[in-house]
Formats: sequence, structure tokens, C-alpha cells
Amino acid sequence: MNDSVEVDLQRIRAYHERTKHRLERYAAGPETLDWSAQPDPFRSFAGAERIPLPLLADGLTTTFSDLHRQGAISPQALSLEPVALLLELSLALSAWKEYGPDRWSLRCNPSSGNLHPTEGYVVCRNIEGLEDGIYHYLSREHALERRARPVETNAMGGSPQLLIGLSSIHWREAWKYGERAFRYCQLDTGHAIGALRYAAAALGWSLRLMDTAGSGDIASLLGLDRTADFSRAEAEEAELLLEVAAASGTAPALPLFGDLDWIGTANVLDPHPMYHWPVIDEVAAASRCPGGAQPARPNAVYPPRSGIPAVTASTLIRQRRSAQRFDRNFEWEADGFYALLDALLARDSAPWDVWNAAPALHPVLFVHRVKGLPPGLYALPRSASAETELRSALRKDFAWTIPEGCPGHLPLFLLAEGGCVAQARTINCHQAIAADSAFALGMLAEFGDTLNAAPWRYRRLYWEAGLLGQVLYLEAEALGLRGTGIGCYFDDAFHELLGLSGTAFQSLYHFTVGSPLTDSRITTEAPYARQT
Ligand SMILES: Cc1cc2nc3c(=O)[nH]c(=O)nc-3n(C[C@H](O)[C@H](O)[C@H](O)COP(=O)(O)O)c2cc1C
Repeated sequence: MNDSVEVDLQRIRAYHERTKHRLERYAAGPETLDWSAQPDPFRSFAGAERIPLPLLADGLTTTFSDLHRQGAISPQALSLEPVALLLELSLALSAWKEYGPDRWSLRCNPSSGNLHPTEGYVVCRNIEGLEDGIYHYLSREHALERRARPVETNAMGGSPQLLIGLSSIHWREAWKYGERAFRYCQLDTGHAIGALRYAAAALGWSLRLMDTAGSGDIASLLGLDRTADFSRAEAEEAELLLEVAAASGTAPALPLFGDLDWIGTANVLDPHPMYHWPVIDEVAAASRCPGGAQPARPNAVYPPRSGIPAVTASTLIRQRRSAQRFDRNFEWEADGFYALLDALLARDSAPWDVWNAAPALHPVLFVHRVKGLPPGLYALPRSASAETELRSALRKDFAWTIPEGCPGHLPLFLLAEGGCVAQARTINCHQAIAADSAFALGMLAEFGDTLNAAPWRYRRLYWEAGLLGQVLYLEAEALGLRGTGIGCYFDDAFHELLGLSGTAFQSLYHFTVGSPLTDSRITTEAPYARQT
């Protein structure tokens, strides 16, 4: 490891350590919050041409189960309308909510604190109905803002190219969460990857993370490094590119546009920021990806899934919500529970085919209320090598027995029998949602080895965790239940419960699933009612 990589590694490790919530003190954050001064949740570019997109999701009848079967959906052509649908089913608003004087929007992709640091971009060439160039997606309007157009139009034609770029505006999360915010931005990015993968699958498209592109290449392609365009506005950190391929099409390299004309100036989201958290800039710089091809994931060997509910995908995706309270009297059927866990195994179909590295996150569950399963702690190692590692890293008195009735291919193990409602609540920042659900879980990442091999993979561990979270959200919803992501948990309290010492494994994200109780005082409006 050369010196600069070693410095990056130390910075990332130090950031991770100092942003742990501890039972005796939370990670550093603002002491007071002025809710009326919340940063604008919508980025827009003044001066950029706006292209309103059609709203088409109501007409899409594809089922959620079809999304998981390769070849079940004939790929739509790469043209403007399916691009609009891709965005409507992934990064668009899904509802406006109102309670008393407060009105707020929700989106298909969830976000820690509903602060939405993730911005989406479309990069396209030879897409029918959409001129070549770079576009920013404005979810508030369901519109594209044209940021750049090639100086010379491409008279040569050629095959269509469509990339989706994602960036993070750290300040949106840091405003509320302080130093831990970088973690939340990364989890939100992972959720957005998942949201985009499901949406692409609904159109019959494949979608892959473009590993050849480094952070600098992405920033330059999306115009995020154009400091003059962001002069007073909050910066956007380049995260990733996803390449869309209509089933048989081969995915392209970075598009070459030649010279581009750039248009637009980013809006200021928070004119009076009260705090600055320099450690976020440091960890962002230390975890930038240099680019270069990555090893592909070995093929998964699990049997195809069965019994996926045949609900309409576009309805399910837009009705996804976080549960705010759960019914403690509800007990879940084991079949549903096993089906949900089965969806977390990395198969070669959607949504896991977007992810081209071996699974590095492994859920440990607090099972509270599942019929036929003793309450207790369980583990779901998502690879055989992780099972071996976890068996030696976790407490020596864990049982590692296979629950009765567990499907043969599902690597679920009972570690310790006994009610763990109180522990789940305490570890998850005393939140009742972790205790009143059917189960809660923490995701243990292969942290030490992954970072030692490539420090920039810190972000990817979070993306994989967010992707797991998105699968949990949609699968729970499909099964008639509801989930909630949990970013607030006491890191080392969880590690200690499991007997983990050192940093070979670290928990990066928590989640809870159960039967939701809804608050009827909150009213709901369609996402774009005022536009149509
Ligand atoms: C990364 C992440 C962390 C979250 N952490 C918590 C949490 O600790 N507690 C909680 O009640 N909700 C949590 N949530 C749920 C968000 O508050 C929720 O997604 C957001 O308010 C938007 O609502 P929606 O999911 O219904 O669209 C989290 C969500 C995400 C994506």
C-alpha cells in the first residue's frame, strides 16, 4: 500500500470511529435545529432549459414478480418515454403529505430524515426524443434540466447510450445529523441504486454499476467540478454512474461528446449554514474511487425464487413508505419471513445483478414475532466464506443451529434463543420501531479486509447496505408489511452484544419490518396533482 492510500485508510478508519453513536454520547452534531431553516430539498439550475417529462407509471401493468424473472418483460426501446418512466419509478416524488401547518413530499427512494441528499443525472446519446447531452433531474417537477449539449451535433448516429449519474449534497444531511451525515448520504445512494434497478427491471432493462469510471471522471462528466456553476451553492460530491442496457445491448464506455456547452447555475440550498463539519470533506476526499475495472462477482447458486406476490410493480414502488409505528400484537407467518430473507441472497437477476462484487454485508436479526421461530438472535451470512469468518468472530457460545422449517438453501442460523425486544430497542437509539416489529436487524460488513484492500470501498459497503435496505422495503411492502431503515444505532453496543472486538466486522445499517400502524391525521396528496 503506498503512502497516500495508507493516509486515506487511516482517515476513513478515524472518521468511522468518531462517528459512532455511543450509549454515553451521540456522534457530534448540531446542538439546536431551526426547522424553518431546513435546506431546500430540491436542487435546480437557473438558466438551464427545462424539459417536462410525461407521467406514465399509472399505465404500466408489469408485476413485481415479473421483475425477478429474466426475459419476463420485453425491453422497451431506449427513448424519452421509458427514460421518463425510469425516473418516475425511482427518484420521483411519490406523494405530498400534510399535517397541520406542515407539508412535505416523499419520494420513491427513501432518505434518512427525508432530507434527500442524492441528486440524479441523465447522460445520453442517440436517445429518441431526447437531444444528446447531460441533464439534471428535478424531482419536484418531474423534469430534466439540460446542463450541457455537445458543441457539434453527432451526425454519425450510432447505438443509444444511457447513463444515470448520482451525486450527494452532504450539507442536506449534515444540517441535521452533523458528522455522521456522510454515512447517511452513502446509505441513501445505495437505496437510490436499488430504486433505479427495480425501475429499470420494470422496463425490461438491465442496469450495472460502471466500475471503470473514477470519482474524478464522474464529477467532470456531470459538471460537478465546474466551480463557477456552484459558486455560492453547496457542492455536489460525485458518487457513481449506472449504465442502462436494453437487454441484449452491450454497455458502452464513458460517452465522448467532444466539447460541451454548459448552461445553468446551481441554487443555494441554505443561505445561512450554522455549522461546518470539515471531517465530512476529509472522508469524502479519502474515499474517492480512482477508477479501473473490478473483479466480477461469482455466479450465485441459489434456486430461483418462488411465491413473489404478483402485485403491480409501479403501484408497489410508489406506495413504499417507512413505518413510523408497528402493531406489537402482530405475529408474522414464517413463510413470509423466509421469503423476505430469500430476497436478500445475491442472485444473478434483478435487483442483485446491478451489484458486481461478492456480498460483503451479512444481516444479524433480532427475531421478535414470527410464528414457529423462537424469538432470539439469528444470523444470515450471505456467502459461505462469511459464515466461516462469522463463526470464528462472533461469541463462542452461539448455537449456530438451523431453525426447523427453514428452506434448505437459506443460510439462516439461530445464534441465541430468548426475547431480545429490550436489547433491540436500546441498541437502535431507544427507538420503539426496533422492538415492536416482527424483526429488526443489523448489517455486519466485512469491514477490515475490504478497507485494507481498497479504502475507497468504504462507500461501496454503504451502498450495498442501502441496496439491501431497498430490497427489504419493497419486499416487505409486497408481502403486505412495511419496513423502516434505521441509521441511528449504537455501533459498539451492537458489536459487544455479538462478542465482536476489533474492526474485522462493523455494523453499517439497521432495519426493522412489521405490521404498520398509520397515522390518520396525516393527509396524502398525489405527487404531481398540481402539475396536471
Ligand atoms: C439511511 C436511512 C436511515 C434511516 N434512519 C431512520 C431511523 O433511525 N429512524 C426512523 O424512524 N426512520 C429512519 N429512516 C426512515 C426515514 O425517516 C424515511 O425514509 C424518510 O422520512 C422518508 O419517508 P419514506 O421512507 O416513507 O419515503 C431512515 C431511512 C434511511 C434511508
